[in-house]
Amino acid sequence: MTLIAQITDLHLRPSGLTCYRVSDTNMLAERAIKAILGLEDRPDAVIVTGDLTDRDDPREYAVARTILAKLPMPVFMIPGNHDTSAGMRRAFSDYPGISESTGEKLYYSADIGSLRLIALDSNVPGKPYGQVGETQLEWLSKTLAEDDRPALVAIHHPPANTGIPHMDGIGLMDSDALADVIRPHAHVERIICGHVHRPIVASFAGKIMTLAPSVAHQLVLDFKEDAQAMFNFEPSAFFLHKHTPKSGTVTHTAYVENHPGPFPFWSDEGVTWPGDKPE
Ligand SMILES: [Fe+2]
Ligand SMILES: [Fe+2]
Repeated sequence: MTLIAQITDLHLRPSGLTCYRVSDTNMLAERAIKAILGLEDRPDAVIVTGDLTDRDDPREYAVARTILAKLPMPVFMIPGNHDTSAGMRRAFSDYPGISESTGEKLYYSADIGSLRLIALDSNVPGKPYGQVGETQLEWLSKTLAEDDRPALVAIHHPPANTGIPHMDGIGLMDSDALADVIRPHAHVERIICGHVHRPIVASFAGKIMTLAPSVAHQLVLDFKEDAQAMFNFEPSAFFLHKHTPKSGTVTHTAYVENHPGPFPFWSDEGVTWPGDKPE
């Protein structure tokens, strides 16, 4: 069994500052790490799918390093639109994947148990939307062709439309070209993304695309064409991707905060469940 925790959209701030005045993103990220460490089954690796920082500020990367250092397992990461590839490289040059990635953009493949992680960089400096670009697409095509082990493709910007117009406007610009590269490869199990701060499932290039909620604030669900981007405090959460050769990749949602329970499924005295044998 291979278990991977995916956390996304941390939007960390310099120590002591909140995000957008009310979201204590540093505290929520700390709690997310605590939740991962408290899991009964310890993940083999953690993948951070972008927007680690809110402003690409070196002080925010320093906070990220301190928080992520609490994780004993390998931590893989890719930039979001709030980060930059250069900022990520400066801050995390000793992290797996990044230490081996030599180009301007941060893309790499890595083995995690029975899965192969293909980490893509969709950051476009100074822009909220994403783009993979030709060089990276060529690398992806070659990388997918040379190994047919089950692969998770991680990218910050979701390549499929989400149906939330103001977010689709800042989605992945070259998603058709990405689909052409991915479609022929049966071993691509999943595309995993962030960016929208909501749990979303869609299909892309004949594969399942899952978009993880943020470990911090969430996006208000609004399908209107003229909707304004707003956030709220729906439950902060992260994904657990569990892979076994028999079941493939199955994705579970885990929550950052604690909730009441566990409680046993007790029935009233003298009442048996349908199908139970009378005593
Ligand atoms: Fe984000
Ligand atoms: Fe983003």
